[in-house]
Amino acid sequence: MAEKQQIRAIKGVRDILPPASAAWNRVEQAAREVFASFGYGEIRLPIIEHVQLFARSVGIGTDVVLKEMYFFEDSASRDLSLFKQAISQFSVDLEDAVQRGGFAKSIRLFLEQLNEAVHSGEIPSTVDNLAAIERFQESVRAFDGALPVVTGQAVSNQFQQVVNDVRARINSIQIGHLIGLRPEATASVCRAYIEHGMQTLPGDVKLYYIGPMFRRERPQKGRYRQFYQIGAEVLGQSDSPGIDAELMEMLLAFFTRVGLAGLALDLNSIGCGECRPKYVEVLRAALLKVKDRLGADSQRRIETNPLRVLDSKIPEEQGIIEALPRISDHLCENCKTHFGEVRRQLDLRGIAYNLNWRLVRGLDYYMRTTFEITAPGLGAQNAVCGGGRYDGLVELLGGPPTKGIGFAIGEDRLMLSLEAAGKMAAEPSLDVFIVWMGAAAQPVGIKLAQKLRGAGMKVELPPEEFKFKKALGLADKLGARYAVLIGENEIAAGKFTLKRLADAVQTSVTEAELLSELKKA
Ligand code: HAM
Repeated sequence: MAEKQQIRAIKGVRDILPPASAAWNRVEQAAREVFASFGYGEIRLPIIEHVQLFARSVGIGTDVVLKEMYFFEDSASRDLSLFKQAISQFSVDLEDAVQRGGFAKSIRLFLEQLNEAVHSGEIPSTVDNLAAIERFQESVRAFDGALPVVTGQAVSNQFQQVVNDVRARINSIQIGHLIGLRPEATASVCRAYIEHGMQTLPGDVKLYYIGPMFRRERPQKGRYRQFYQIGAEVLGQSDSPGIDAELMEMLLAFFTRVGLAGLALDLNSIGCGECRPKYVEVLRAALLKVKDRLGADSQRRIETNPLRVLDSKIPEEQGIIEALPRISDHLCENCKTHFGEVRRQLDLRGIAYNLNWRLVRGLDYYMRTTFEITAPGLGAQNAVCGGGRYDGLVELLGGPPTKGIGFAIGEDRLMLSLEAAGKMAAEPSLDVFIVWMGAAAQPVGIKLAQKLRGAGMKVELPPEEFKFKKALGLADKLGARYAVLIGENEIAAGKFTLKRLADAVQTSVTEAELLSELKKA
């Protein structure tokens, strides 16, 4: 019996349906236009990347990579994967020497292919993998030793032990490359910058992207497992504070353009490789003094990442955190000067901001300028945009020394906030509904629909004959502005009946009159 159970979308992912999708498109179009006016070009990035890219940039210890990334082993070599699967499922219920012999042969063949594949780069020659293969080789030798003995319970047990060993070791070999669904796109932009030698391009490289990202977070309003970002990045030789300020100016110009009001821009500098580690130690020491008054999460973070304690939303911790040493008092001279100039450049552009020394961001690559924008109507997940400077990230990924700064807007949250503000007004969905009756009317209707659509109008033409009343009812429900009626009388007179649905005013018109009337409206 075929399963008839309904298959639903995966938890935390959504469909975006019309007419909402039209509003999404309008917002994306606004981003394209605003960003282009600041000299940005679109980069289309892959949705899958090597896990290593995110581990190295976003940070192996961050929630985004460690807890939330979707990844899989891409079986570059089907044979090897199949071998691996077959060997790990191999039944040890063996009294049969022939079967043992076959198994031994498979394993040796597997080992041979494995070595070849590592040499050719078909499977990753990571340190872990090389060690796993070495260990596997050892157990194959042990296996060979156990093989000649065929019978007896004790021997069988010994054999079982060897097989278990082989199996465990084979499982620890990573046949395919680890591929992740991107949790964000800054890392990909940096990868692409290096891969395409963009450092040789004139001026700063200014790129934007629009697309889905994936994080296995606990779904709630404004937090999804597949969500959409509109982001932009500037990469180049300069870390001039004017770049930081213009980036924020562009961001706010975009929000103004789409009609999002009531925004708050939070700004901070989290220092550089010089001053931040020192501050982190000062902070850690201060946190240790108040450790007993903190919750379990914060206590753990004193060791792992003290800066993240500043993110805490736990009410009882707020008073304690407010009294902690602040990064602004521990910036080195260069960072202090840079931050002062960023603020002056924002002032020059008339951009208001709140200084927020607790804004540390959850990704490892940031340094100096960090910022976040919150929007109304979103509840707990009210950060609609986050960004900051990440000088040195390109270098960390194997590229030339490069400065970088960027942001990403959470498009889902942006749309929620626009909706809450009543700014999602749908465009009229339909201009004309053509009602035709009788075989002779259909070809006339088809031609008219072609003409009107060619003129850019939204037209609905029923695929089969409807009764007038039913057709007009549907036209109304679809929100059509006009109905054009084509029946026997119209065909005979060589005219159309044009009905304005808002007030039911009806006129008899020639095709030329019809076109000019519709274009006017
Ligand atoms: P992020 O702060 O991780 O930064 O994400 C940016 C924005 O994406 C957030 O402010 C939020 O609006 C949205 N967002 C994040 N996670 C979710 C989710 N699960 N559901 C819905 N929306 C979400 C970055 O991703 C950096 N790459 C930004 C950046 C670009 N920094 C420099 N350049």
